[in-house]
Amino acid sequence: MTTTPVPGGCPAHTATTPVPLGGPAVHTEPQALYRTMRHSYGPVVPVELPGGFPAWLIVGYRELHQVAGDGELFPRDVGLWNQWERIPEDWPLLPMVGRPMPSIYFTAGAEHRRHSEMVVPALEAADPFEIREHCEQLADRLVDGICARGTADLVAEFAEPLPVLVLARLVGFPDAEGADIARVLKDLADGGPGAQEAYGRFGEHMRLLVTAKRETPGDDVTSRMLADPESFTDEEYALDLMAITAAGHLTTADWISNSLRLMLTEDQFADSLAGGHRSIGDAMNEVLWEESPTQILAGRWAVRDTQLGGRTIRAGDMLLLGLGAANTDPLIRQEMAVGGAVRHAGNGAHLAFSYGEYRCPFPAQEIAETIARTAIEVILDRLPDLELAVPAQDLVRRPSAFLRGMNALPVRFAPVQTTGAQL
Ligand code: HEM
Repeated sequence: MTTTPVPGGCPAHTATTPVPLGGPAVHTEPQALYRTMRHSYGPVVPVELPGGFPAWLIVGYRELHQVAGDGELFPRDVGLWNQWERIPEDWPLLPMVGRPMPSIYFTAGAEHRRHSEMVVPALEAADPFEIREHCEQLADRLVDGICARGTADLVAEFAEPLPVLVLARLVGFPDAEGADIARVLKDLADGGPGAQEAYGRFGEHMRLLVTAKRETPGDDVTSRMLADPESFTDEEYALDLMAITAAGHLTTADWISNSLRLMLTEDQFADSLAGGHRSIGDAMNEVLWEESPTQILAGRWAVRDTQLGGRTIRAGDMLLLGLGAANTDPLIRQEMAVGGAVRHAGNGAHLAFSYGEYRCPFPAQEIAETIARTAIEVILDRLPDLELAVPAQDLVRRPSAFLRGMNALPVRFAPVQTTGAQL
């Protein structure tokens, strides 16, 4: 790391050589890497994305708050990126960074608000009791698929399929199609050669759903979106439905599996395994602070040249929101310390759902919480003697700098009977 002084920056945080954003350190021990970055670079770190593309990673809580809170200067407008001319068609991060397209996730400013004012009320109107019922029913069916066996991988067989099955029901798919949407999203997340084809199938499912709900509306998110007086094209509805499902499935899956991992490995959560519901909430909240499912979010793009955390940001530069890093910024941690220990319980000031006009919509956060909490309650209720089937240190993280989850969560338990429900 070179130490050329940064004009206007803290003299202790002067490194300028971009940090490559990839490799095992960022996958397995991101917090150690964030600490080093903060020490050597300060709150705004020059990084290099795979392929050699520059970006700024914001690791400071205050600076992240400032950027996410200023949608005028730092919109989520990927079209502003000053690297587009250099980006190859097959760049592996392209699906995650995205391209300008008419959906809630890839529009900015007034156009984003137009989508948001149609999508968010449609999510908000979902009945929380019904969502809970869907979650219980679908979670029970998934547990039925594993409970007689005595062993399972809770990522592949429970935490990953459950959120997508619930979201598929909420947007209006019949259950039979929910299972296919789950497969499509798995192929997409795997990012292999099947990803492009999976994306096509994902869009086709949503287009057919829009047509079906236009003909026969129901009590679901899609029908409510279509009933909004503002008019959108069918392609826009389909893209918004894809955004809702894609934004919600892996994030919620990781919230479930990271919380279960914590409960299965840390003594302080032993109570939860014996049915202590308060501890479930504590574990879930601790995960949002310590292991935010969205560790790094791409991102925001600067509208004009500006200064941030002692760095000169150029118009069109990409800013990556280091949500996981900002949550552990010593600045905010000092405020959370009670008697020398950090207290997460009841503290919702984390940035796991981001902040500002593009943050995860509040009704979506509530849906995520209902899915995750119900999932954990059902699994602990049905398999009360659940334990890890491998030593905790052998659990493997997903090889991603952006999403924090596990490849697998192998568990064992005394086999029990199914409830007889079918998927
Ligand atoms: C633990 C679970 C979840 C996490 C950690 C999470 C996190 C996030 C984050 C970080 C963003 C981007 C915010 C930004 O750019 O500032 C986002 C956006 C979004 N999320 Fe979530 N999310 C979760 C669950 C869900 C669920 C279940 C849904 C759907 C029901 C959902 C729907 C959305 C939508 C529609 C957006 C785009 C909002 C906009 O552009 O206005 N999310 N989420």
